[in-house]
Amino acid sequence: MKILLFGKDGQLGREFIPVIGTCSEFLSVGRAECDLADEEQIQVIIQQFKPDVIINASAYTAVDQAEKEVELARLVNTQAPTVMAQEAQRLGAAIVHYSTDYVFDGRKQSPYFETDECHPLSVYGSTKYLGELGVEKNCQRHLIFRTSWVFSAHGSNFLKTILRLAASKETLNVIDDQWGAPTSTGLIVKATMTALQRNGVVKGELEANAQNASRTANWGLFNLVASGETNWHAYAQYVIQRATDLGMGSDFVLTGSKIIPIPSKDYPQLAPRPFNSRLDLLKIKDTFDVKIADWREGVDEELEKIKHMQAIENA
Ligand SMILES: NC(=O)c1ccc[n+]([C@@H]2O[C@H](COP(=O)([O-])OP(=O)(O)OC[C@H]3O[C@@H](n4cnc5c(N)ncnc54)[C@H](OP(=O)(O)O)[C@@H]3O)[C@@H](O)[C@H]2O)c1
Repeated sequence: MKILLFGKDGQLGREFIPVIGTCSEFLSVGRAECDLADEEQIQVIIQQFKPDVIINASAYTAVDQAEKEVELARLVNTQAPTVMAQEAQRLGAAIVHYSTDYVFDGRKQSPYFETDECHPLSVYGSTKYLGELGVEKNCQRHLIFRTSWVFSAHGSNFLKTILRLAASKETLNVIDDQWGAPTSTGLIVKATMTALQRNGVVKGELEANAQNASRTANWGLFNLVASGETNWHAYAQYVIQRATDLGMGSDFVLTGSKIIPIPSKDYPQLAPRPFNSRLDLLKIKDTFDVKIADWREGVDEELEKIKHMQAIENA
């Protein structure tokens, strides 16, 4: 079983490396090995390695910058996954790809289903949506997971920004009218591996249990976010509270009560964000029998990891 991972240096890519490394022959590539804006480089790597599974954890994720770098965002978010899917199909391989809540305009009043119509508001959202279509149309054995508000102990994300700002700002304005589920990379990797095992693509402990083995593989598009929902303001308050509980707040000058809720209109950003980023989890739970933890569990776990990393740095 050969697995090829694109995006090894990103938040999600980094989370995959120790997990895949234990069970397979695999190659992980980052920007230095393959510029995703160049379709030929993608083709060469895939044709040389001949993977059984391609995992695409890469993307152009600078949401506001994408409004100015439209062509680069298109190459990385639309062309690259489309080329990966074409090559996967040629080899009879499977492809795993990730997409986003930003494919929606957020006007729906309840969580989005996989079947809801997409209306992206931004270049990032449009290029990711077209990337989904490119994967879907070009490779039969595809898994596309739509996720939201991704965070981990590594890389740049909202949780780490809040921890950093807590040490320098006594008050902080945070948006409280956009709703979604902060989703840890750990949760995404676990659910992805379960889906691949259930589809009989990768070996794992599930395979040993005949009751769990799925007779027919299930491919397609799935929402994959943490359980529960919150807004950015409540999320920030939770991070500060839990970090303080864990003894990580010795240099904090910010407290939860000094995080001020504001509406999105008071925090203009180049790319508009959906107000409703909630994604329904019924399909993925039913199909792959995965347990999806609450977003707070993911925050707690990543805070523990950050605390551990800080202790090592300070030792
Ligand atoms: N972050 C979120 O909040 C969020 C929310 C919803 C969905 N998603 C989706 O989840 C997936 C994983 O996101 P993430 O947060 O892990 O992203 P990330 O941390 O920004 O990682 C993306 C990776 O893609 C690489 N990349 C970008 N342009 C490239 C190029 N031209 N050539 C080669 N590599 C390139 C980056 O390389 P460098 O490290 O060299 O820059 C980076 O390592 C993506 O599909 C994303 O759209 C993310």
